[in-house]
Amino acid sequence: MKPKQSTVQDWGGKWTEVKLNSFIEYVRAYLTILNKYPHYKSIYFDGFAGLGEKITTKAKKTDLFNFEVNDSELTELHVYQGSAARVLKLEPPYQFDYYYFIETNEKSVDSLNLLRQSIDHIPRSQIIIRKEDCNSQLEQLALALKKPNFTALILLDPFGMQINWSSISNLRGTHSDIWILIPSGVAINRLLGTSGELMALDRLTAFFGLSESEIRGIFYPPKEEETLFGTQKTNKKIDKPIDKIVEIYQRQLKTVWKNVSNPLILKNSKNNPIFHLIFASNNSTGLKIANYIIDKNSPKNI
Ligand SMILES: C[S@@+](CC[C@H](N)C(=O)[O-])C[C@H]1O[C@@H](n2cnc3c(N)ncnc32)[C@H](O)[C@@H]1O
Repeated sequence: MKPKQSTVQDWGGKWTEVKLNSFIEYVRAYLTILNKYPHYKSIYFDGFAGLGEKITTKAKKTDLFNFEVNDSELTELHVYQGSAARVLKLEPPYQFDYYYFIETNEKSVDSLNLLRQSIDHIPRSQIIIRKEDCNSQLEQLALALKKPNFTALILLDPFGMQINWSSISNLRGTHSDIWILIPSGVAINRLLGTSGELMALDRLTAFFGLSESEIRGIFYPPKEEETLFGTQKTNKKIDKPIDKIVEIYQRQLKTVWKNVSNPLILKNSKNNPIFHLIFASNNSTGLKIANYIIDKNSPKNI
């Protein structure tokens, strides 16, 4: 009989595929429903668009704010098609009115432009590619969504902690659904030292939208320990910090959208959680669909 562990490892090696397949399944369901409401103008917004038609091996360290990362954790040795190509290649009726692809890397922008030229079934003027920082573009998106009858499906798929919480919170009150990748195990957890050291503090506070003392209170709750020398105060990191990172981010998302999904846990080939993918929306049907997809694609069910 095949040992169970090999199944887990196979799954872990394909985390990018699991992530993108789950997302595209949602895109199809979303557009199926939206097509019943033709008065809406739909926007697809991909804030970290990548190469489009993508062939990759691993994330670059610079994507993680120069934070030391063991490359083996992000190794992705198979070729895959990126989110931009997957969304643009969906045939009618799975189409948005406008597509925005945001990317800071010049080579990726060139590659996205090539992809755009290869698409025949969507007017080119409706596919907008911008070499910009995702945070500033999210602010513009939030403004655009204040107009009546505009709705957006947003994918934020960074490898690192580039997204500022303030960019997300601007989306409060908009007609939007979001899928967001949280670098829970690879970046955030490593910035939280075991004895209260907060590395890249500015990044942590900007990412969570929390103050230093709030972050300390969550990850290093004050404790008193009895020692041979009497009672001593400790500031040890909590157990299961990755679960807490996800819980805190979900809690923050809940201040912007009514509904927040369970996380889709993405693990590396060593079965360690490296990212969590989370969905949020004001729409309860969207939540049901997202949770169904997430449950189906979760490690225990694969
Ligand atoms: C994980 S990859 C994108 C994956 C993509 N969704 C796919 O499926 O192929 C992240 C991309 O974000 C870009 N990037 C990094 N920081 C950015 C920022 N602040 N704003 C926009 N793009 C950024 C990187 O150049 C990289 O191509």
